[in-house]
Amino acid sequence: MSARIRITPMTPVIGAEVSGIDIVHGQDEAFDVIHRTLVDHQVVFIRDQPQLPPAIQVEFARRFGPLHSHPAAPHLEGHPEVFVIHTHRDSKIANGNGWHTDVSCDEEPPLATMLQLHQLPPSGGDTLFASTYAALESLSPRMRAFLANLTARHASEHVYRGRYADRGVDDTGKAYPFADHPVVRTHPESRRNALYVNRAFTTRINELTSKESERLLTFLFRHVERPEFQCRFHWTPHAIALWDNRCTQHFALWDYWPHERRGHRVTVQGERPFYDASGITTEAQRYRVSSGAL
Ligand code: SIN
Repeated sequence: MSARIRITPMTPVIGAEVSGIDIVHGQDEAFDVIHRTLVDHQVVFIRDQPQLPPAIQVEFARRFGPLHSHPAAPHLEGHPEVFVIHTHRDSKIANGNGWHTDVSCDEEPPLATMLQLHQLPPSGGDTLFASTYAALESLSPRMRAFLANLTARHASEHVYRGRYADRGVDDTGKAYPFADHPVVRTHPESRRNALYVNRAFTTRINELTSKESERLLTFLFRHVERPEFQCRFHWTPHAIALWDNRCTQHFALWDYWPHERRGHRVTVQGERPFYDASGITTEAQRYRVSSGAL
């Protein structure tokens, strides 16, 4: 790796900032470094790039695999793979303003998402990321064993119906996807196990009664939100975040109304989530130290 490249972890658990790469002119090297950092740190942040032309962002994201098409959101004209993230004074919703994993309602949900923001509010608009490896590792072995035998329904009708009407999308007669996934999934590259339920899309644990499911999901959603599993990214113009949806959740904070925030998002198609009993769950002593303080 070239001496000018720096990888700086954001926290011991999740996130790393990479500098000294060139996504426009040095894609081979940039891809190697970002890919390795993504597997090691789950979310990668890059600040020192120019505004990427849509074709370059698409070309770079494609190195991770075929691109994913969003089931509901409108795309950038001429670039069906680019989802425009845009929130302004008249927005009714802000994309990602709640804890979620991207499009987990798909049978094969996105593996990774690459977002570059071009326009920022004067302050605020940060994005928070949580490690779902850490969330799983901090649970007791008994709880982990129980969760490993469960599957959950991920639905999207309640998320997407009418959501993009103010951006010209008429979804009359459209059916939105749903899928069943393991509650614990094994990451195909790191082989680590991660918790795979999220507030936005997960509606039901299939093997439990509805009351049991509701209570357990409420516990798990709140558990993932513990601050020790998180990092928080403060955007600067043209910064890029690239996150692994197989082992993270994120929350794009809409605390900047009436200001505007805009950028381009491209997602990479993933595989069907699976659980492999030989996957790795590290005993996380560090979480025992901080639990029980309150
Ligand atoms: C998203 O969930 O894709 C939006 C993330 C962001 O705008 O920071």
